[in-house]
Amino acid sequence: MPGSGLDRYAPPMRILLGVTAGIAAYKAAVLVRELIRAGHEVRVVMTPAATRFVAPLTFQALSGHPVATHEDDPAASQTGMDHIALARWAERILIAPASADFLARLRAGMADDLLATLCLAAEVPICVAPAMNRQMWLAAATQDNVAALAARGVTVLGPESGLQACGEDGPGRMLEALELVALLAVLPAPGAPRLDGLAVVVSAGPTFEPIDPVRFLGNRSSGRMGFALARAAQAAGAKVTLVHGPVALTPPANVALVPVETAAALQAAVQSAATGADIYIGAAAVADYTPLTPAKAKIRKEAGGIAALGLGQTADIIAGLADSHPGLFRVAFAAETEDLDGNARAKLARKRAHMLAANLVGQPGSGFGDAPNALTVHWPDGRALALGTATKEALAAQLVALIAETFHAQCRPEGPGSADRD
Ligand SMILES: Cc1cc2nc3c(=O)[nH]c(=O)nc-3n(C[C@H](O)[C@H](O)[C@H](O)COP(=O)(O)O)c2cc1C
Repeated sequence: MPGSGLDRYAPPMRILLGVTAGIAAYKAAVLVRELIRAGHEVRVVMTPAATRFVAPLTFQALSGHPVATHEDDPAASQTGMDHIALARWAERILIAPASADFLARLRAGMADDLLATLCLAAEVPICVAPAMNRQMWLAAATQDNVAALAARGVTVLGPESGLQACGEDGPGRMLEALELVALLAVLPAPGAPRLDGLAVVVSAGPTFEPIDPVRFLGNRSSGRMGFALARAAQAAGAKVTLVHGPVALTPPANVALVPVETAAALQAAVQSAATGADIYIGAAAVADYTPLTPAKAKIRKEAGGIAALGLGQTADIIAGLADSHPGLFRVAFAAETEDLDGNARAKLARKRAHMLAANLVGQPGSGFGDAPNALTVHWPDGRALALGTATKEALAAQLVALIAETFHAQCRPEGPGSADRD
Protein backbone atom coordinates (compact mmCIF):
# COMPACT_ATOMS: atom_id res chain seq x y z
CA MET A 1 0.00 0.00 0.00
CA PRO A 2 2.06 2.95 -1.19
CA GLY A 3 1.98 5.93 1.12
CA SER A 4 0.48 4.54 4.28
CA GLY A 5 2.75 1.52 4.76
CA LEU A 6 0.18 -0.25 6.90
CA ASP A 7 -0.71 -3.17 4.68
CA ARG A 8 1.51 -5.86 6.16
CA TYR A 9 1.31 -4.76 9.76
CA ALA A 10 -2.20 -5.11 11.15
CA PRO A 11 -3.29 -8.71 11.70
CA PRO A 12 -6.29 -9.19 9.40
CA MET A 13 -9.64 -9.04 11.18
CA ARG A 14 -13.31 -9.30 10.27
CA ILE A 15 -14.45 -5.77 10.99
CA LEU A 16 -18.06 -4.71 11.13
CA LEU A 17 -18.09 -1.00 10.32
CA GLY A 18 -21.13 0.87 11.64
CA VAL A 19 -21.82 4.18 9.92
CA THR A 20 -24.09 6.65 11.71
CA ALA A 21 -25.63 9.94 10.63
CA GLY A 22 -22.92 12.58 10.81
CA ILE A 23 -21.34 14.78 8.21
CA ALA A 24 -18.15 12.69 8.61
CA ALA A 25 -19.98 9.71 7.05
CA TYR A 26 -18.21 10.57 3.80
CA LYS A 27 -14.89 9.80 5.53
CA ALA A 28 -16.17 6.28 6.27
CA ALA A 29 -15.94 5.52 2.53
CA VAL A 30 -12.19 6.15 2.63
CA LEU A 31 -12.03 4.15 5.86
CA VAL A 32 -13.56 1.07 4.19
CA ARG A 33 -10.91 1.29 1.46
CA GLU A 34 -8.04 1.69 3.90
CA LEU A 35 -9.27 -1.14 6.15
CA ILE A 36 -9.44 -3.45 3.14
CA ARG A 37 -6.03 -2.29 1.92
CA ALA A 38 -4.69 -3.09 5.39
CA GLY A 39 -5.90 -6.67 4.92
CA HIS A 40 -9.15 -6.60 6.90
CA GLU A 41 -12.48 -7.98 5.74
CA VAL A 42 -15.19 -5.35 6.12
CA ARG A 43 -18.98 -5.43 6.24
CA VAL A 44 -20.92 -2.20 6.63
CA VAL A 45 -24.10 -1.60 8.58
CA MET A 46 -25.66 1.87 8.44
CA THR A 47 -28.23 3.56 10.61
CA PRO A 48 -31.30 4.58 8.60
CA ALA A 49 -30.40 8.26 9.16
CA ALA A 50 -26.85 7.70 7.84
CA THR A 51 -28.24 6.75 4.42
CA ARG A 52 -29.28 10.40 4.02
CA PHE A 53 -25.57 11.34 4.05
CA VAL A 54 -23.97 8.61 1.90
CA ALA A 55 -25.76 6.05 -0.25
CA PRO A 56 -25.42 2.40 0.89
CA LEU A 57 -24.36 1.59 -2.68
CA THR A 58 -21.06 3.41 -2.07
CA PHE A 59 -20.26 1.12 0.85
CA GLN A 60 -21.52 -1.94 -0.99
CA ALA A 61 -19.17 -1.21 -3.89
CA LEU A 62 -16.21 -0.52 -1.60
CA SER A 63 -16.73 -3.45 0.78
CA GLY A 64 -17.93 -5.93 -1.81
CA HIS A 65 -20.86 -6.90 0.42
CA PRO A 66 -24.48 -5.77 0.67
CA VAL A 67 -25.06 -3.03 3.23
CA ALA A 68 -27.75 -3.67 5.83
CA THR A 69 -29.72 -0.93 7.58
CA HIS A 70 -32.89 -2.54 9.00
CA GLU A 71 -33.32 -5.88 10.69
CA ASP A 72 -35.65 -7.00 7.89
CA ASP A 73 -33.34 -5.56 5.24
CA PRO A 74 -33.11 -7.91 2.24
CA ALA A 75 -29.34 -7.19 2.26
CA ALA A 76 -29.17 -8.81 5.70
CA SER A 77 -31.60 -11.65 5.12
CA GLN A 78 -30.29 -12.53 1.60
CA THR A 79 -26.89 -13.32 3.03
CA GLY A 80 -28.32 -14.95 6.14
CA MET A 81 -26.78 -12.15 8.19
CA ASP A 82 -29.35 -11.04 10.78
CA HIS A 83 -28.24 -8.99 13.76
CA ILE A 84 -27.05 -12.03 15.70
CA ALA A 85 -25.22 -13.54 12.74
CA LEU A 86 -23.54 -10.18 11.98
CA ALA A 87 -22.54 -9.76 15.62
CA ARG A 88 -21.03 -13.28 15.62
CA TRP A 89 -19.30 -12.81 12.25
CA ALA A 90 -17.41 -9.73 13.45
CA GLU A 91 -14.12 -9.94 15.33
CA ARG A 92 -14.34 -6.22 16.04
CA ILE A 93 -17.06 -3.61 15.70
CA LEU A 94 -15.99 -0.11 14.70
CA ILE A 95 -18.57 2.68 14.66
CA ALA A 96 -17.17 5.52 12.52
CA PRO A 97 -18.50 8.12 12.55
CA ALA A 98 -20.29 7.66 15.86
CA SER A 99 -22.96 10.37 16.21
CA ALA A 100 -23.88 11.92 19.56
CA ASP A 101 -27.27 10.28 19.16
CA PHE A 102 -25.75 6.84 18.57
CA LEU A 103 -23.42 7.15 21.58
CA ALA A 104 -26.48 7.96 23.72
CA ARG A 105 -28.36 4.95 22.34
CA LEU A 106 -25.36 2.65 22.78
CA ARG A 107 -24.98 3.79 26.38
CA ALA A 108 -28.69 3.29 27.05
CA GLY A 109 -28.67 -0.19 25.50
CA MET A 110 -31.27 0.69 22.88
CA ALA A 111 -32.12 -1.83 20.17
CA ASP A 112 -34.10 0.45 17.90
CA ASP A 113 -32.21 -0.21 14.67
CA LEU A 114 -29.99 -2.97 13.27
CA LEU A 115 -26.67 -1.36 14.30
CA ALA A 116 -27.74 -0.65 17.88
CA THR A 117 -29.23 -4.14 18.17
CA LEU A 118 -26.15 -5.96 16.96
CA CYS A 119 -23.95 -3.88 19.31
CA LEU A 120 -26.14 -5.06 22.16
CA ALA A 121 -25.81 -8.65 20.96
CA ALA A 122 -22.03 -8.40 20.40
CA GLU A 123 -19.45 -10.31 22.40
CA VAL A 124 -16.49 -8.73 20.59
CA PRO A 125 -14.69 -5.44 21.35
CA ILE A 126 -16.51 -2.30 20.22
CA CYS A 127 -14.64 0.84 19.14
CA VAL A 128 -16.31 4.18 18.48
CA ALA A 129 -14.87 7.12 16.56
CA PRO A 130 -17.03 10.08 17.58
CA ALA A 131 -17.62 12.93 15.13
CA MET A 132 -19.70 15.97 15.94
CA ASN A 133 -19.75 19.70 16.53
CA ARG A 134 -17.40 20.75 19.35
CA GLN A 135 -20.22 21.86 21.64
CA MET A 136 -22.11 18.59 21.06
CA TRP A 137 -18.89 16.75 21.99
CA LEU A 138 -18.23 18.88 25.08
CA ALA A 139 -21.88 18.69 26.24
CA ALA A 140 -22.12 17.08 29.66
CA ALA A 141 -24.53 14.47 28.30
CA THR A 142 -22.09 13.33 25.58
CA GLN A 143 -19.10 13.34 27.94
CA ASP A 144 -21.13 11.34 30.44
CA ASN A 145 -22.15 8.83 27.75
CA VAL A 146 -18.56 8.43 26.51
CA ALA A 147 -17.20 7.97 30.04
CA ALA A 148 -19.85 5.34 30.78
CA LEU A 149 -19.10 3.50 27.53
CA ALA A 150 -15.33 3.62 28.18
CA ALA A 151 -15.87 2.27 31.70
CA ARG A 152 -17.78 -0.62 30.11
CA GLY A 153 -14.83 -1.45 27.85
CA VAL A 154 -15.85 0.40 24.70
CA THR A 155 -12.72 1.91 23.09
CA VAL A 156 -13.12 5.57 22.21
CA LEU A 157 -10.85 6.56 19.31
CA GLY A 158 -10.43 10.32 19.17
CA PRO A 159 -11.96 12.70 18.32
CA GLU A 160 -9.32 15.28 17.42
CA SER A 161 -9.46 19.05 17.46
CA GLY A 162 -9.48 21.25 14.39
CA LEU A 163 -11.64 23.05 11.89
CA GLN A 164 -15.09 21.48 11.72
CA ALA A 165 -17.55 21.07 8.85
CA CYS A 166 -19.84 23.60 10.58
CA GLY A 167 -17.04 26.20 10.42
CA GLU A 168 -16.26 26.10 14.15
CA ASP A 169 -12.86 25.11 15.56
CA GLY A 170 -12.49 22.65 18.42
CA PRO A 171 -12.69 19.00 19.51
CA GLY A 172 -15.07 16.70 17.65
CA ARG A 173 -13.39 15.92 14.33
CA MET A 174 -13.39 12.22 13.48
CA LEU A 175 -9.86 10.80 13.24
CA GLU A 176 -8.61 10.36 9.69
CA ALA A 177 -9.04 6.92 8.13
CA LEU A 178 -5.34 6.05 8.22
CA GLU A 179 -5.08 7.04 11.87
CA LEU A 180 -8.03 4.76 12.72
CA VAL A 181 -6.40 1.88 10.83
CA ALA A 182 -3.09 2.52 12.63
CA LEU A 183 -4.81 2.66 16.03
CA LEU A 184 -6.68 -0.61 15.42
CA ALA A 185 -3.27 -2.26 14.98
CA VAL A 186 -2.00 -1.17 18.42
CA LEU A 187 -5.12 -1.39 20.63
CA PRO A 188 -4.54 -3.07 23.99
CA ALA A 189 -5.96 -6.57 24.26
CA PRO A 190 -9.13 -6.70 26.40
CA GLY A 191 -8.09 -6.76 30.07
CA ALA A 192 -4.44 -5.86 29.34
CA PRO A 193 -2.68 -3.62 31.90
CA ARG A 194 -3.20 0.07 31.00
CA LEU A 195 -1.50 3.42 31.40
CA ASP A 196 -4.59 5.51 32.19
CA GLY A 197 -3.73 8.98 33.49
CA LEU A 198 0.05 8.48 33.17
CA ALA A 199 2.36 10.85 31.30
CA VAL A 200 4.58 8.94 28.87
CA VAL A 201 7.47 10.33 26.82
CA VAL A 202 8.52 8.32 23.76
CA SER A 203 11.55 9.03 21.60
CA ALA A 204 11.63 7.75 18.02
CA GLY A 205 13.57 7.84 14.80
CA PRO A 206 17.15 8.60 13.89
CA THR A 207 19.18 11.71 14.63
CA PHE A 208 21.05 13.65 11.97
CA GLU A 209 24.44 14.99 13.05
CA PRO A 210 25.61 17.85 10.81
CA ILE A 211 28.94 17.61 8.97
CA ASP A 212 28.25 20.89 7.17
CA PRO A 213 25.00 22.73 6.28
CA VAL A 214 24.05 20.11 3.66
CA ARG A 215 25.55 16.82 4.91
CA PHE A 216 24.94 14.78 8.01
CA LEU A 217 25.71 11.48 9.72
CA GLY A 218 22.51 9.52 10.15
CA ASN A 219 21.31 5.95 10.61
CA ARG A 220 18.73 3.56 9.19
CA SER A 221 16.02 4.03 11.84
CA SER A 222 12.60 4.71 10.28
CA GLY A 223 10.94 5.72 13.57
CA ARG A 224 8.21 3.20 12.97
CA MET A 225 8.63 1.28 16.25
CA GLY A 226 8.64 4.50 18.29
CA PHE A 227 5.58 5.87 16.48
CA ALA A 228 3.76 2.57 17.06
CA LEU A 229 4.73 2.75 20.76
CA ALA A 230 3.42 6.33 21.01
CA ARG A 231 0.10 5.25 19.48
CA ALA A 232 -0.05 2.12 21.67
CA ALA A 233 0.66 4.12 24.85
CA GLN A 234 -1.99 6.65 23.89
CA ALA A 235 -4.46 3.87 23.11
CA ALA A 236 -3.71 2.42 26.55
CA GLY A 237 -4.81 5.68 28.17
CA ALA A 238 -1.53 7.63 28.51
CA LYS A 239 -0.92 11.29 27.77
CA VAL A 240 1.94 10.98 25.30
CA THR A 241 4.76 13.28 24.21
CA LEU A 242 6.63 11.99 21.16
CA VAL A 243 10.13 13.42 20.64
CA HIS A 244 11.23 12.33 17.19
CA GLY A 245 14.07 12.73 14.76
CA PRO A 246 13.61 13.19 10.99
CA VAL A 247 11.08 10.57 9.77
CA ALA A 248 8.63 10.13 6.90
CA LEU A 249 5.66 8.89 8.95
CA THR A 250 2.14 10.16 9.63
CA PRO A 251 2.16 11.65 13.14
CA PRO A 252 -0.25 10.07 15.64
CA ALA A 253 -3.32 12.13 16.54
CA ASN A 254 -3.76 13.53 20.06
CA VAL A 255 -0.06 13.12 20.87
CA ALA A 256 2.23 16.11 21.63
CA LEU A 257 4.94 16.13 18.96
CA VAL A 258 8.45 17.51 19.44
CA PRO A 259 10.45 17.24 16.19
CA VAL A 260 14.23 17.43 16.57
CA GLU A 261 17.29 16.77 14.39
CA THR A 262 20.39 16.15 16.46
CA ALA A 263 21.26 13.95 19.44
CA ALA A 264 21.86 17.08 21.53
CA ALA A 265 18.43 18.49 20.61
CA LEU A 266 16.78 15.13 21.33
CA GLN A 267 18.42 14.97 24.74
CA ALA A 268 17.31 18.53 25.60
CA ALA A 269 13.73 17.82 24.45
CA VAL A 270 13.57 14.53 26.40
CA GLN A 271 15.01 16.15 29.54
CA SER A 272 12.38 18.87 29.33
CA ALA A 273 9.47 16.48 28.62
CA ALA A 274 10.61 14.06 31.35
CA THR A 275 9.89 16.59 34.08
CA GLY A 276 6.46 15.63 35.36
CA ALA A 277 6.35 12.44 33.28
CA ASP A 278 5.91 8.93 34.69
CA ILE A 279 7.50 6.78 31.97
CA TYR A 280 10.18 7.26 29.31
CA ILE A 281 10.43 4.85 26.38
CA GLY A 282 13.66 5.48 24.50
CA ALA A 283 13.08 3.94 21.08
CA ALA A 284 15.06 6.56 19.14
CA ALA A 285 18.26 5.47 17.40
CA VAL A 286 20.34 8.32 18.78
CA ALA A 287 23.74 8.84 17.16
CA ASP A 288 26.61 7.73 19.41
CA TYR A 289 29.03 10.08 17.64
CA THR A 290 28.69 13.58 16.24
CA PRO A 291 31.12 15.72 14.23
CA LEU A 292 33.04 17.88 16.72
CA THR A 293 33.22 20.97 14.53
CA PRO A 294 30.57 21.02 11.80
CA ALA A 295 31.66 23.30 8.95
CA LYS A 296 29.74 26.57 8.69
CA ALA A 297 29.79 26.47 4.86
CA LYS A 298 29.45 23.52 2.48
CA ILE A 299 32.73 21.60 2.31
CA ARG A 300 33.76 21.80 -1.34
CA LYS A 301 35.07 18.85 -3.34
CA GLU A 302 37.44 21.12 -5.23
CA ALA A 303 39.03 22.17 -1.93
CA GLY A 304 40.06 18.59 -1.18
CA GLY A 305 36.79 17.32 0.34
CA ILE A 306 36.64 15.48 3.66
CA ALA A 307 39.73 13.43 4.42
CA ALA A 308 38.78 12.72 8.05
CA LEU A 309 35.96 13.59 10.42
CA GLY A 310 36.70 14.48 14.02
CA LEU A 311 33.94 12.81 16.05
CA GLY A 312 32.95 13.21 19.67
CA GLN A 313 30.64 11.00 21.74
CA THR A 314 27.07 12.17 22.28
CA ALA A 315 25.43 12.15 25.72
CA ASP A 316 23.83 8.93 27.02
CA ILE A 317 20.19 10.03 27.27
CA ILE A 318 18.75 7.17 29.36
CA ALA A 319 21.69 6.98 31.76
CA GLY A 320 21.44 10.77 32.10
CA LEU A 321 17.76 10.47 33.03
CA ALA A 322 18.68 7.99 35.77
CA ASP A 323 20.62 10.83 37.41
CA SER A 324 18.36 13.77 36.61
CA HIS A 325 14.95 12.04 36.99
CA PRO A 326 15.49 9.00 39.26
CA GLY A 327 11.74 8.55 39.80
CA LEU A 328 11.05 8.21 36.07
CA PHE A 329 10.36 4.63 34.89
CA ARG A 330 12.83 4.16 32.06
CA VAL A 331 12.60 1.71 29.15
CA ALA A 332 15.66 1.36 26.90
CA PHE A 333 16.02 -0.19 23.46
CA ALA A 334 18.98 -2.07 22.05
CA ALA A 335 19.54 -2.71 18.35
CA GLU A 336 22.33 -5.27 18.04
CA THR A 337 23.92 -7.12 15.16
CA GLU A 338 25.43 -9.95 17.27
CA ASP A 339 25.28 -11.56 20.76
CA LEU A 340 21.82 -10.09 21.33
CA ASP A 341 21.28 -11.36 24.88
CA GLY A 342 24.77 -10.58 26.17
CA ASN A 343 24.80 -7.08 24.72
CA ALA A 344 21.24 -6.43 25.91
CA ARG A 345 22.04 -7.44 29.50
CA ALA A 346 25.19 -5.28 29.53
CA LYS A 347 23.26 -2.32 28.11
CA LEU A 348 20.42 -2.70 30.62
CA ALA A 349 22.94 -2.46 33.49
CA ARG A 350 24.91 0.38 31.89
CA LYS A 351 21.77 2.43 31.23
CA ARG A 352 20.25 1.75 34.70
CA ALA A 353 16.88 1.18 32.99
CA HIS A 354 13.83 -0.61 34.43
CA MET A 355 13.33 -2.64 31.24
CA LEU A 356 15.12 -3.10 27.94
CA ALA A 357 13.70 -4.27 24.61
CA ALA A 358 16.34 -5.78 22.35
CA ASN A 359 16.19 -6.65 18.68
CA LEU A 360 18.60 -7.97 16.11
CA VAL A 361 19.05 -5.60 13.21
CA GLY A 362 20.65 -6.09 9.84
CA GLN A 363 18.97 -9.51 9.42
CA PRO A 364 16.29 -10.37 6.88
CA GLY A 365 12.88 -10.23 8.60
CA SER A 366 13.91 -8.11 11.53
CA GLY A 367 15.03 -4.62 12.40
CA PHE A 368 14.75 -1.28 10.67
CA GLY A 369 12.00 0.15 8.53
CA ASP A 370 8.99 -1.78 7.26
CA ALA A 371 10.29 -5.22 8.25
CA PRO A 372 8.59 -7.04 11.10
CA ASN A 373 10.53 -7.17 14.30
CA ALA A 374 11.45 -9.73 16.95
CA LEU A 375 11.83 -8.22 20.41
CA THR A 376 13.19 -9.76 23.59
CA VAL A 377 12.37 -7.88 26.78
CA HIS A 378 14.87 -7.96 29.66
CA TRP A 379 14.39 -6.96 33.31
CA PRO A 380 17.18 -6.14 35.80
CA ASP A 381 16.34 -9.23 37.92
CA GLY A 382 17.47 -11.46 35.05
CA ARG A 383 14.05 -12.28 33.62
CA ALA A 384 13.69 -12.17 29.84
CA LEU A 385 10.71 -12.65 27.57
CA ALA A 386 10.92 -13.24 23.82
CA LEU A 387 7.93 -11.66 22.08
CA GLY A 388 8.64 -13.47 18.82
CA THR A 389 8.46 -12.05 15.34
CA ALA A 390 5.49 -9.82 14.65
CA THR A 391 4.56 -6.48 13.16
CA LYS A 392 5.99 -3.46 14.95
CA GLU A 393 2.44 -2.38 15.79
CA ALA A 394 1.57 -5.74 17.39
CA LEU A 395 4.87 -5.72 19.32
CA ALA A 396 4.23 -2.14 20.46
CA ALA A 397 0.87 -3.16 21.97
CA GLN A 398 2.50 -6.12 23.77
CA LEU A 399 5.43 -4.06 25.00
CA VAL A 400 3.16 -1.29 26.32
CA ALA A 401 1.18 -3.92 28.26
CA LEU A 402 4.44 -5.27 29.77
CA ILE A 403 5.58 -1.73 30.62
CA ALA A 404 2.22 -1.01 32.29
CA GLU A 405 2.40 -4.28 34.24
CA THR A 406 5.98 -3.67 35.42
CA PHE A 407 5.32 0.01 36.18
CA HIS A 408 2.24 -0.77 38.31
CA ALA A 409 4.06 -3.58 40.12
CA GLN A 410 7.19 -1.53 40.87
CA CYS A 411 6.30 2.12 40.99
CA ARG A 412 2.77 2.52 42.15
CA PRO A 413 2.10 0.28 45.14
CA GLU A 414 0.07 3.14 46.69
CA GLY A 415 -1.79 3.96 43.50
CA PRO A 416 -1.63 6.95 41.14
CA GLY A 417 0.40 9.96 42.22
CA SER A 418 3.01 8.13 44.29
CA ALA A 419 5.87 8.02 41.78
CA ASP A 420 8.82 10.33 42.33
CA ARG A 421 8.08 12.87 39.60
CA ASP A 422 11.08 15.15 39.54
C1 LIG B 1 -26.63 18.16 8.01
C2 LIG B 1 -26.53 17.44 9.30
C3 LIG B 1 -25.31 17.13 9.83
C4 LIG B 1 -25.20 16.45 11.04
N1 LIG B 1 -23.97 16.16 11.51
C5 LIG B 1 -23.86 15.49 12.69
C6 LIG B 1 -22.58 15.15 13.19
O1 LIG B 1 -21.55 15.45 12.59
N2 LIG B 1 -22.52 14.48 14.37
C7 LIG B 1 -23.63 14.13 15.06
O2 LIG B 1 -23.48 13.55 16.13
N3 LIG B 1 -24.85 14.42 14.60
C8 LIG B 1 -25.00 15.10 13.43
N4 LIG B 1 -26.24 15.40 12.95
C9 LIG B 1 -27.43 14.96 13.70
C10 LIG B 1 -27.70 13.48 13.42
O3 LIG B 1 -27.82 13.25 12.04
C11 LIG B 1 -29.00 13.05 14.14
O4 LIG B 1 -28.79 13.10 15.52
C12 LIG B 1 -29.43 11.66 13.72
O5 LIG B 1 -30.67 11.39 14.30
C13 LIG B 1 -28.43 10.62 14.16
O6 LIG B 1 -28.90 9.37 13.74
P1 LIG B 1 -28.15 7.98 14.04
O7 LIG B 1 -27.53 8.12 15.36
O8 LIG B 1 -29.24 6.98 14.00
O9 LIG B 1 -27.20 7.75 12.96
C14 LIG B 1 -26.37 16.09 11.74
C15 LIG B 1 -27.62 16.38 11.19
C16 LIG B 1 -27.72 17.04 10.00
C17 LIG B 1 -29.07 17.33 9.43
